[in-house]
Amino acid sequence: MLSSSTLSIPACTDVPRHLAVIMDGNGRWATKRFLPRTAGHVRGVQAVRRVVEACGKRGVEYLTLFAFSSENWRRPKEEVSLLMRLFIQTLEKEVGKLEQQGVRLRVVGDLEPFEPKLRDLIRLAEQRTEHNSALNLTIAANYGGRWDILQAMRRLLESRPDLAGTPQAIDEAMLADHLSMAYAPEPDLFIRTGGEQRISNFLVWQLAYTELYFSQDYWPDFGAKEIDAAFEWYKTRERRFGRTSAQVSGVV
Ligand code: IPE
Ligand code: IPE
Ligand code: MG
Repeated sequence: MLSSSTLSIPACTDVPRHLAVIMDGNGRWATKRFLPRTAGHVRGVQAVRRVVEACGKRGVEYLTLFAFSSENWRRPKEEVSLLMRLFIQTLEKEVGKLEQQGVRLRVVGDLEPFEPKLRDLIRLAEQRTEHNSALNLTIAANYGGRWDILQAMRRLLESRPDLAGTPQAIDEAMLADHLSMAYAPEPDLFIRTGGEQRISNFLVWQLAYTELYFSQDYWPDFGAKEIDAAFEWYKTRERRFGRTSAQVSGVV
């Protein structure tokens, strides 16, 4: 585990080290234009490209994008299958580019229910980019924050069966070490597009001390300019992590 904001205070920089995004509003973007919702998802992929590039240029080290939640299976069958096809197509088309741009791709979530072809493409994309380190791009797919905490607890007990008899010996760091994004620091900035102000079971553990930014823009309209506006807002935040303002500014 790289850091836990409740155990130690991370260094604060003007550009977030780790940006986590709920890419929301694809369906409404399309409906507003009398297009099928799926057209919004197709346009959403272009926004992913823009934001990955903008974050790379601005020196973000970790970018995490919520692409499909564990609750999104509740959507109409046709929409779910379009999203899966889009995921496959995007991986097929974009991985070469990511490799060249120095992007390391990882996918987190319960990949078990995905079709074998998609799982293979994910594995391949992760392998092809694993030597990269310019930007760590994580796609959360069939991800749920509660699933993550549960799977972490299960894996912890599998690796340390003795802890079942001494639960008081379990600490925060041990559990966090088994979360699916244990390789990354906790997000500094969270952006949700589309106007809703909720977490929707995204990184529920890791967002404990993250700055939360909500944008009215629909995801397909999001790009470099909107990233800059979010980063400008982020710069103005005083991240106190429980301390007083005077302590943060070094007055006391
Ligand atoms: C986000 O956009 C994409 C996914 C959840 C896959 P939505 O599809 O949720 O768009 P709205 O919220 O219905 O507009
Ligand atoms: C959250 O968006 C999930 C993703 C962006 C992948 P939703 O549109 O599914 O969230 P709710 O259900 O409206 O909260
Ligand atoms: Mg939505």
